[in-house]
Order: sequence, then C-alpha cells, then structure tokens
Amino acid sequence: MSFARIVGTGSYLPEKVVTNSDLEATLDTSDEWIRDRTGIERRHVAAKGQGSSDMAVEAAKRAIEAAGLTANEIDLIVVATTTPDKIFPSTACIVQRKLGIAECAAYDIQAVCSGFIYALDAADRYIRTDGGKTVLVVGTETMSRIVNWNDRGTAVLFGDGAGAVVLQASERAGLIATHMHADGSMEELLHVPQGISLGFDATCSDGAFIEMNGNAVFKRAVGVLGAAARETLDGHGIDRKDLDWLIPHQANMRIIKAAAKKLGLPMERVVVTVDEHANTSAASIPLALDIAVRDGRIKSGELVLLEAFGAGFTWGTALFRY
Ligand code: UT7
Repeated sequence: MSFARIVGTGSYLPEKVVTNSDLEATLDTSDEWIRDRTGIERRHVAAKGQGSSDMAVEAAKRAIEAAGLTANEIDLIVVATTTPDKIFPSTACIVQRKLGIAECAAYDIQAVCSGFIYALDAADRYIRTDGGKTVLVVGTETMSRIVNWNDRGTAVLFGDGAGAVVLQASERAGLIATHMHADGSMEELLHVPQGISLGFDATCSDGAFIEMNGNAVFKRAVGVLGAAARETLDGHGIDRKDLDWLIPHQANMRIIKAAAKKLGLPMERVVVTVDEHANTSAASIPLALDIAVRDGRIKSGELVLLEAFGAGFTWGTALFRY
C-alpha cells in the first residue's frame, strides 16, 4: 500500500511583531494577564496589502525546497484558510499562479482552526486513491483583518502566518490516520456574524469581526480533544508511550497543557509555539510542525499526533510517521 508522506515543511511569519506590552497601550489588558491566561507573548501581523496567498507562497516555497522538488511537480494544492484574499477565486488558485505552476488542481478548505487537519485528510485520500503523487497543503491566515482591535476578549488572542507541507506517495509509512468531526449546533459561541449570502450588515460600519464566548469554547475544546486523541490512538492500537510528539492547535497554553495531561504526555513531548505567534487558526499546526522539524526536535521515523479544535465547531486529529 502506498502512503501519503510528509517530505517537506515550511512556514512564514510576517515581519511586524505586536507584543503584549504594545497592546497594553490601546486595550485594558496586561502582559501578565495575557501570559497567565493564554501563554501568548507576541503575535505577527501582516503588512498592508499582504494577503493570505502571499504568506502561503512563502511557506510553500520553503516546503517545496525542503522536499527537494520543483513547484511544477505538484499535482494538487489544498489551502486551508478562513481569511481568503478574495471571495473568489480560491486562495489556492492564487497561490498556484504565484508559484508559477502551469496547471494543477487547486481548491480551498474552510474548517477554521481545524482546516489543516481537514486538508491533510483530503490530500491523504487523493494520494492513496491515485489522484496524483504530490500534494501541497497550506494553512494560511490573516486573522488580524477579522479581529476587533478594540475588544480585549479577542484582540490579544490571534495572529497572522502560514505553514505548509508537501506530501508524496511513498512505500514508507507516512500518514496513518485522520479523524474529522463537526458540530454545527453551537455556531454562535465562536463566529464572524457577517457574510456573503446573508449580506454584510451596513449598520456595522467598522467591519466583520470575530465574536467569541471564550470560556465556553475553552471548556468544549478541552473536552473533545481528549476524546479525539483517544479515538485515534485506541482505534489504531497505539500505546500512548509510543507517541513521540503531540502538536496541538496553538490557541491557548492552558488548553495545550490539558490535552497533554489527558494523554499522559510530559510537556517535553508537546510542541508549543503559541507564545511566539498566538492563534493563527489553520496555520497554527503547520507552523508549529515546521518550527519543530527545522530545530531538529522532530526526527525522521518519529510518531506524531496533530490535534485541532475550532469554530463550527470542528475538530480532528492526524497521526503520522515523519
Ligand atoms: O482556536 C479555537 C478557538 N479559540 C480558543 O480556543 C480560545 C478559547 N478560550 C480561551 O482561550 C479563554 O477562554 C480566554 C483566554 C479567551 C479567556 O480566558 P478565561 O480564563 O476563560 O477568562 P474569562 O473569559 O472567563 O474572563 C475572565 C476575566 C473577565 O473579567 P471578570 O468578568 O472576571 O471581571 C474578563 O473580562 O478576564 C477578563 N478579561 C481580560 N482581562 C484582561 C478578558 N480578556 C481580558 C484581557 N485582559 N485581554
């Protein structure tokens, strides 16, 4: 059987950094509160005119180079994003053009913070059913554009960035399992209550912003992530002690610690980058993965579990050998 294997990773964070102290100047908040409650120290913010596709292209170039491939060898581009450049075409098509790829399939996936897991699932199935041999999967977000910078409850939490992986058909073990879930019944706990088909609300002159009941989202995330990890490991007969790394969605250090505790994993085996870039939604897992691959933590052959939770609600896991 052929596997979809990750053969290259890449990431990109925009140059501009906004620290917690910077936010103290404009919001009724403090560095101490943000660190204690979230683990976040800073976030990166895209420059004016810098789109999700621009960041995706930078991350993709690094992943393609790390894979030792050229862009023209890619058969499919899947971009997970909640913050596309335009209503249409898809950000994936814009990325294809900017990478100079003549022709390959390209589409976006919208599953908010779980988007990268959903996109990996699509890439895995495409490769294993002989759709093509090489897939570029990117998570990219300009969350700063949908954050209300006057709302301390959300403004301190999000950041911009992109992460990418190249997957290839391989006889060597790669992706072992993906599990996806969604529950649309609690939509209003975390949403941007504006959109295309229902119209943008003309009375909301400021723009379309994230609205969240943070505490309710927190509790739900901790609950379902434990069950999702158990489902994946038990379903594939994998003992927790055989797991080398957990890479959770980087939203809140307390959620990450709770997920690790439920799995009985020491924090030394959990990749944490939320301090550096805050919650970058669909970009957070591939960003953390690339950082841990490049600093030498994640080594060839190691067993890695990814887990995500986000608006929808959506959540899921991906288990792979690197
Ligand atoms: O990507 C997936 C989706 N998102 C998440 O996973 C986020 C999930 N939620 C969270 O991370 C946490 O719920 C937050 C970090 C958003 C909030 O932490 P919390 O421990 O749940 O705090 P809280 O919402 O219960 O608020 C506690 C207090 C409140 O004050 P009172 O009512 O106790 O006086 C808030 O008004 O903290 C206040 N507060 C702040 N204070 C200083 C809320 N935001 C801030 C702030 N600075 N930025």
